[in-house]
Amino acid sequence: MPRSTLAGMPPGWPDPPVARALGRPRAGRWPGAAARRPAGLGAALAWSALLALAGCGDAPPPLAPPAQAGALPGADSVRGRQRIAEYGCVSCHQIPGIRGAGARVGPPLRHLASRAYLGGVLANTPANLVRWLRDPPAIAPHTAMPDVGLSEADARDIAAYLLTLR
Ligand code: HEC
Repeated sequence: MPRSTLAGMPPGWPDPPVARALGRPRAGRWPGAAARRPAGLGAALAWSALLALAGCGDAPPPLAPPAQAGALPGADSVRGRQRIAEYGCVSCHQIPGIRGAGARVGPPLRHLASRAYLGGVLANTPANLVRWLRDPPAIAPHTAMPDVGLSEADARDIAAYLLTLR
């Protein structure tokens, strides 16, 4: 641990940048602490005001109920997981449970089942997820996700897997 170079700090106490990285100082531990507290309080108040304005923490819009995994009769999530690997979705997405290089072309698909909208435009229901997977540009003409040529059966299986990602 580097020795302190600032006057007024206890010997052996890290310099401020190091202290900040370590989550210190705690209030009252060194002379600068009291002076810093109001700034922290102000920032916290500013953040809560911003969050209130942005409406964070509100329930999702009623148009977009949380999608249900069991709502695609006959679809097989295990087969869907295999299809995801075969179709190379991981060349653009990070998908939990599918090995890949961590591509960031499209959004990571973790928590997909609890997302309100697909592609930012389509309410996330099981049927809409199948529609999206079969032909994204038909829904959002400017989207960067291509139609990868999924059959209806493959799209349903893949949707069943994605809907297990809560
Ligand atoms: C060439 C890159 C690419 C490939 C390949 C690709 N996607 Fe996408 N995907 C995207 C992009 C970019 C988006 C964001 C679309 C938008 O917001 O308009 C997206 C969006 C999605 C969404 C909606 C996610 C959300 O939060 O809105 C799902 C689900 C999805 N992709 C699944 C898949 C699956 C499954 C495959 C394989 C069958 C796949 N994608 C293949 C690029 C790709």
